[in-house]
Amino acid sequence: MDKLVIQGGQPLKGEVRISGAKNAALPILCSALLTSEPLTLTNVPDLNDIQTMLRLLEQMGVKVAQSGDTVTLDASGLNNPTAPYEMVKTMRAAVLVLGPLVARCGEAHVSLPGGCAIGARPVDQHIKGLQSMGAEVKVEHGYVNAKVGRLKGARLFTDMVTVTGTENLMMAACLADGETVIENAAREPEVVDLAQCLSAMGARISGAGTDVIRIQGVERLHGATHRIMPDRIETGTYLCAAAITGGEIRLTGTSMGYLDSVVDKLMDAGCEISGEKSPQFEAITLRAPKKLTAVSIRTAPYPAFPTDMQAQFMTINTVAEGTAVIRETIFENRFMHAVELQRLGADIQIDGNTAFVRGVAQLEGATVMATDLRASAGLVLAGLVAEGETTIERIYHLDRGYEHLEQKLSQLGAIVRRVRA
Ligand code: EPZ
Repeated sequence: MDKLVIQGGQPLKGEVRISGAKNAALPILCSALLTSEPLTLTNVPDLNDIQTMLRLLEQMGVKVAQSGDTVTLDASGLNNPTAPYEMVKTMRAAVLVLGPLVARCGEAHVSLPGGCAIGARPVDQHIKGLQSMGAEVKVEHGYVNAKVGRLKGARLFTDMVTVTGTENLMMAACLADGETVIENAAREPEVVDLAQCLSAMGARISGAGTDVIRIQGVERLHGATHRIMPDRIETGTYLCAAAITGGEIRLTGTSMGYLDSVVDKLMDAGCEISGEKSPQFEAITLRAPKKLTAVSIRTAPYPAFPTDMQAQFMTINTVAEGTAVIRETIFENRFMHAVELQRLGADIQIDGNTAFVRGVAQLEGATVMATDLRASAGLVLAGLVAEGETTIERIYHLDRGYEHLEQKLSQLGAIVRRVRA
């Protein structure tokens, strides 16, 4: 397995372009299943999870054509509404084919994703919603087996805010008979991006971005072209990299609009942040202080502080002035980066879903192990500032969600290299 070796101590300076959002591209790729006409997507990030999703769609009979960051999908030949375990176990977002398959084919056989490092990650809300829309859904031998003549519009209420649950049910509702209302819907920008793509395909959706989404079902959807929104978590991760190394960077192809809570916290930590926005162009610049001030965070659904930025903020707090309290309210086991940060000299106390981080003068390089995508990002940030050399093992986690990571970091002056195992 590949490793990343980082020589700490270089303030990041310069400019990089932010890629398309993984968590917008994944559901939008699945929306191609809803039509027999071609769907063309631009600004698609070059990530392992995207390739996994494209292979999953191809084995269903979808034709995939890729050229640079443009992907065209043609599901006219869709003939196998199945997502097999060996593909789903490597990427839980594969569950996003469930809603579109039931809506388009009247059946679906999707392996249960199973848990992952950060939690049990059940999909009961996805199933409950489809059942409310008239589908017969059974969980048998590790598969979700669903069948229906045609889904019926219904009033759905999810027990908790679920991003992919909202996305699955919104896609399913596009072809249902009648109106569907999703209450307690996720408000994440990626849900809005999916709704914009579906609307371009002829879906009738209102309320995306609020907690009540209304979908008027239509007979069929048509092809479209859609540009994937910028990745707000990649943006936040690079802002944190500049903050922790005392640097100054400019990120292009992205905007502050989706990151208010993260930008606010970075400003509280002492960073100067400014945005540029024009119809053709958007960018963010961050200038770090000499010493960061500790900032406490509490994760919650959008627009509150995103759980996918929690590990990165734990890391910047390890070398900030003061003590920070970090509360993780979304996932039950999302502090695994803490023990790895302690190996680098961080002073962190964990009490259930709360972490107390007391800033230390300096982290010291060591060998650490990545456990999940965003925890790995937190370890990279630590390596950038730790004294000496840090080796991060199992970086296949990083390759799932950060496009050309070592190239972009090197472009900003980091001393980082990939060691192929
Ligand atoms: C999405 O995961 C993201 N993934 C995650 O990003 C992100 O951390 C998460 O939303 C929260 O923002 C994609 O969009 C592909 P949830 P998702 O359903 O949809 C519980 C990354 O790093 N729940 O919003 O799987 C669940 O266990 C990834 O890019 C149920 O109990 O998350 C969790 O505690 C990691 N039953 C909470 O709800 C359900 O049916 C929120 O989960 C669904 C969810």
